[in-house]
Amino acid sequence: MKYTYNFPTTIRFGSGVINELSDYLKANNLNRPLLVTDPVVAGLEFFKKTKNELASKKIHPEVFSDMHKNPVKSDVLKGTDVFKKSNCDCIIGIGGGVAMDVARAIVLKVNHHEDLFYYDDLIGGDKYVTNEVPYFITVPTTSGTGSEVGRSAIIADDINHQKKILFAPKLLAKIVFCDPELTNDLPPFITAATGMDALTHNLEAFLAKMEHPICEGIALEGIRLITQSIEKAVNKPDSASRTNMMMGSTMGAIAFQKGLGVVHSLAHPLSSLLDTHHGLANAVNLPYGMRFNIGGCEEKFTRIARTIGLKKKTGEHVVDFLFQLNNNLGLPVKLSGIGVKPEHIEPLSDLAFADFCHPNNPKPVTREDFKKLYLEGL
Ligand SMILES: [Fe+2]
Repeated sequence: MKYTYNFPTTIRFGSGVINELSDYLKANNLNRPLLVTDPVVAGLEFFKKTKNELASKKIHPEVFSDMHKNPVKSDVLKGTDVFKKSNCDCIIGIGGGVAMDVARAIVLKVNHHEDLFYYDDLIGGDKYVTNEVPYFITVPTTSGTGSEVGRSAIIADDINHQKKILFAPKLLAKIVFCDPELTNDLPPFITAATGMDALTHNLEAFLAKMEHPICEGIALEGIRLITQSIEKAVNKPDSASRTNMMMGSTMGAIAFQKGLGVVHSLAHPLSSLLDTHHGLANAVNLPYGMRFNIGGCEEKFTRIARTIGLKKKTGEHVVDFLFQLNNNLGLPVKLSGIGVKPEHIEPLSDLAFADFCHPNNPKPVTREDFKKLYLEGL
């Protein structure tokens, strides 16, 4: 077997690196950035401060934050209009997964003139992403999706809410400014739910079936950083725990170019059907999905247990640890705790089986398996 491994994005990491943004733009002759963010981040103090700092260096940012919680095509088209009408020369995605998705889709749309969904990766549209794209910079404000180092965006159709994936190496940021201080004001629930998403990325990437020793090494270290810091970051945050969480989240997204698995396929339908927060949906399903994967992956679970620092190094002990972790973070351990009812099980199982993540799971997952897993979790 032959493989290709790509790690091309520059990552500037550490407390206060957001203050380097204006000098970086100046050094690259960029004076008219479009800041793409969600409406919540647009109202935060640090965002206003960053805008003022740019203005003081004679950089004239335009802001686009008119987007839905689950972004749709019209959000992207509106943002693209703002980019063009304002003569912007680069795009800076600032925020969590939603802002990154919209920013990345605008990056694609500016110089690609077919309908946005012509470029849908699921129908082979990635091969048409061939034109130049605007200079793209990302700044994460949560430690969860890791989308800042990603190359894909999930955008839904306005009418039928079907999700499309825009994917191309050209959609990678040129540079990422990872500043853990930007997560200081996140409330405990968001820190917990997004953090569990990041932990799920690392665990699923480590187990995913593709051969990828580089990603597996990154995933194991991501597991270590997150499991050592997440309780502290949620219950009594300090600079070290926030820093570890952001590093672990970025590492998770780098690692999952190897693939994800059964847990994300269990989680995605909960968001589409019941509007469950993505991280929360992963957190609740994680112990059940991991238990499903133990058989055949015993050696890998021993390595996970060793990395977490468990006394007993079996898959079952990893699963117990994950249940306990959800408890300690104040998250539910049952699907009924997030509003799932028996009548949801059939439609959830259909959607989970149709999901694009589980083909990378270390062992095959049937529709019947999904149903069993949901019933166990109920
Ligand atoms: Fe995720």
